[in-house]
Amino acid sequence: MVGRDILGCFILCLSLASVCAVRGTLSSIKDLKGIEFGHTSPRHGLMLLHWLANNIYNDNNSNMRLNFNPARRDYGFHFYRNADNPHPLPILPHQHESYYSLGNLVHNNNNVALALPDYVTRRFYNSRGHENNRDRVILRVREEESNQFIVDEVYVTQHYPPNGNTGTGYDPDNTYLVSFNLLTQIQRLATIDRNGIPRIYDVEINHNSLQELENIWGHTPGLALLLAIVLSFTFRAQSCRVTSQSTLKHEDNALIKLEVKTTDRGKARIIWSGIPNRLLDQGLMVVLHRNNNSDSKSELDRSSVGGKASGSYNTSVPLNPGLQVRLRKEVNNWWNYLGFGSTIEEEIWRGSEFHDANREIPVDINGHDASLQLFVKDGKACARLYVKKSFTAWKKTFHNSWVGFYSSEGTLDYNTWQWAVKFSEEKGSHQADIPGYDIYVYESSMTMSPGVQVRFMLEKYGGEKDPLLSPSMICSWK
Ligand SMILES: *[C@@H]1O[C@H](CO)[C@@H](O)[C@H](O)[C@H]1NC(C)=O
Ligand SMILES: *[C@@H]1O[C@H](CO)[C@@H](O)[C@H](O)[C@H]1NC(C)=O
Ligand SMILES: *[C@@H]1O[C@H](CO)[C@@H](O)[C@H](O)[C@H]1NC(C)=O
Repeated sequence: MVGRDILGCFILCLSLASVCAVRGTLSSIKDLKGIEFGHTSPRHGLMLLHWLANNIYNDNNSNMRLNFNPARRDYGFHFYRNADNPHPLPILPHQHESYYSLGNLVHNNNNVALALPDYVTRRFYNSRGHENNRDRVILRVREEESNQFIVDEVYVTQHYPPNGNTGTGYDPDNTYLVSFNLLTQIQRLATIDRNGIPRIYDVEINHNSLQELENIWGHTPGLALLLAIVLSFTFRAQSCRVTSQSTLKHEDNALIKLEVKTTDRGKARIIWSGIPNRLLDQGLMVVLHRNNNSDSKSELDRSSVGGKASGSYNTSVPLNPGLQVRLRKEVNNWWNYLGFGSTIEEEIWRGSEFHDANREIPVDINGHDASLQLFVKDGKACARLYVKKSFTAWKKTFHNSWVGFYSSEGTLDYNTWQWAVKFSEEKGSHQADIPGYDIYVYESSMTMSPGVQVRFMLEKYGGEKDPLLSPSMICSWK
């Protein structure tokens, strides 16, 4: 008996040791109120967690699974070694398990536009300093044979404060395990009856701030509610309210939406909305830039907003990933009145960068360890083929496979096409450098426009490419 007790204790200690690295477990929305993660503006942790909760699901065997592939770097996920000292996360016992981290919004050198949705990144493009890039979510996953991932654990963490002498790693004292119950609670916020929330979740909602938050985040179901619950009645939230009142001007800027879309000629189309009335008579311009890093003088095109709170403008600039709209206003000073020099302008707001495939991730080719992504380059429709390195026989398997480019969903006639094995290997780009994958691209001559599709056809019939074949994968441009 004694022996068994000691054994039991030993097992208990072992499992404790494996969780000791983290501070604790967050098992409900209420627990998010008491921690630092994502609390102060412009931190993006709560948006990240909301995004994750809505892209993870419970299969019928009580396994949590993902709507995406972190190993393919979907949405910017990165392999995380857990090599900081001390280790912020438990050491992984099995080789087939890995950690993937998400949330670093800073550009790498390749100027890759961020694939996360606008609601996660928009504060970041409009704030300065390092405080806005500290939050991360981390997944502990197991990859199954069929390219499917099972999520064993989810964590939230944060980098040490910038300019401290604590190093650059993740801070174990602010690292928490997130229970699946908490993720389910966040998912349910999108549909749950508000009046039931205090009773079911044992939390209060601050209805005044909820209304303000709805104005800004209302397009994303459940997000305003999450923020209203987590940020209300905490000390930090109160200090946050005070600052928000003193910078009210900035708060209604958060209603501004600036987007890049596609014209039917492969050019960038600027769409704006939500410009506050107080700004409308101030000589506002929407200005298109190559990306977030380009300086204010190197613009590609511009248009006056003509006093309209919302509107659109078709530019003559070929569509490319990274394009960004900025809202600027004329600043009147005596220098202008005297007629010297050019008009001085001040930047009011920035949109998120335009992303490949309208922020869509590659689509799996049925039954194979390969996926295809539609993207745009210089206004032309292009396709990128991701082949897992373990799929060594892909050239043989896809020997007769071809990729067709179609102008719309309704058509059976392709505009142009290419054999899958004739795609050229992509080198030197951000995408070219994903461990475990080989990447091939084909840049077609077809002008990109809304509704364009690529379809992957596994076979040809009778030596011909038969348009009546059913595709193994379809990807559409929105
Ligand atoms: C769960 O099972 C039902 C019925 O068998 C099926 O329709 C559904 O797609 C399954 N859900 C998942 C997530 O596998
Ligand atoms: C701008 O482009 C859109 C999308 O192609 C098109 O529907 C609209 O008519 C264009 N507007 C103008 C003024 O050309
Ligand atoms: C966008 O540019 C601003 C100003 O140059 C910079 O502070 C910010 O970090 C940039 N954001 C991204 C996502 O690169």
